Amino acid sequence: MVIIEGLLPPSRENWETVCYIWQFFPVITAFQWVLDWYPQGKTSTNFSLNIPGKIGWATMESAGFITLIYIMLSLPRELGINELPWGNWTMAGCFVIHYFYRAVVSPLFLNPSMSPIHPFVWVLAFLFQMFNAISLGGWLAGYGPTTVHEWGGRFWSMEIGLVIWAWGLLGNMFHDDDLREIRRAADRKQRKEAERTGKPLDGVDKVYMLPKNGLFQYALYAHYLCEWIEWAGFWMVGGWNCTPARTFLVNEITTMLPRALQGKRWYEKKFGKEKVGNRKAIIPGLL
Ligand SMILES: NC(=O)c1ccc[n+]([C@@H]2O[C@H](COP(=O)([O-])OP(=O)(O)OC[C@H]3O[C@@H](n4cnc5c(N)ncnc54)[C@H](OP(=O)(O)O)[C@@H]3O)[C@@H](O)[C@H]2O)c1
Repeated sequence: MVIIEGLLPPSRENWETVCYIWQFFPVITAFQWVLDWYPQGKTSTNFSLNIPGKIGWATMESAGFITLIYIMLSLPRELGINELPWGNWTMAGCFVIHYFYRAVVSPLFLNPSMSPIHPFVWVLAFLFQMFNAISLGGWLAGYGPTTVHEWGGRFWSMEIGLVIWAWGLLGNMFHDDDLREIRRAADRKQRKEAERTGKPLDGVDKVYMLPKNGLFQYALYAHYLCEWIEWAGFWMVGGWNCTPARTFLVNEITTMLPRALQGKRWYEKKFGKEKVGNRKAIIPGLL
């Protein structure tokens, strides 16, 4: 079923245009290098039109994997392709697993609380998801490899890429959970205190501490680093000529790196430079 003629699913010409424009996303995120204004998470603001954190994350991040599934199911039929090779489905599966965790499981079931999101950040994240899903979806569903033969001879690099992807995902989940544990522990402490004193619970919104476990000992945004590793592995699965996977990784790095550097400044201001010590923002020992 066609949703938007020529775009969902994309015609070849429109897909190429989307892929071309998508490479310039780092120009849009350049504002992050010069402005400290980023109204989300730690640096969220009290804006009246803010979107509640959990709903915001679930809606903006679901757009990508739902669109990718839709393109995988609709485009091959439009192009007269009977069956896509398993390599295409493997990459689509990796993408869906990650974003099902990020958009559904994490905000709606695991995270104790999430700060509100400014609509501007929501729109940027939604556009990120849509451009990325069309770019990757088009490549995976008909404009990239369409026969097993085209994946041939790359078995080892695909295997290694998949292993890197899986370790990156596990590392990302592990460090995400370490952040959750800070709020779960605060909640447990508050409940004990409430039982003892009869005082009402304060809630754990905006409770922050310095994370200490795993790679957090060396870098304050270790979960970001793991996500980069994950998508570098994904690119390796697709092959170095898989431009959509490369653009995805580059665009993630160019938006997350300034955010992590800003986050390090935020930690230093909140907890003091001595407490942060020689921990880096994102790459242990380096950056
Ligand atoms: N932000 C991006 O540009 C971006 C892009 C692509 C992927 N991602 C991925 O999405 C995930 C979340 O990203 P994010 O930017 O929201 O990460 P984040 O700022 O580290 O926040 C993640 C979660 O942990 C909480 N949290 C953060 N630091 C904490 C601390 N020191 N103590 C207690 N709780 C803390 C946050 O609560 P609050 O919401 O209340 O701050 C939020 O619920 C990451 O795994 C990242 O790899 C992010």
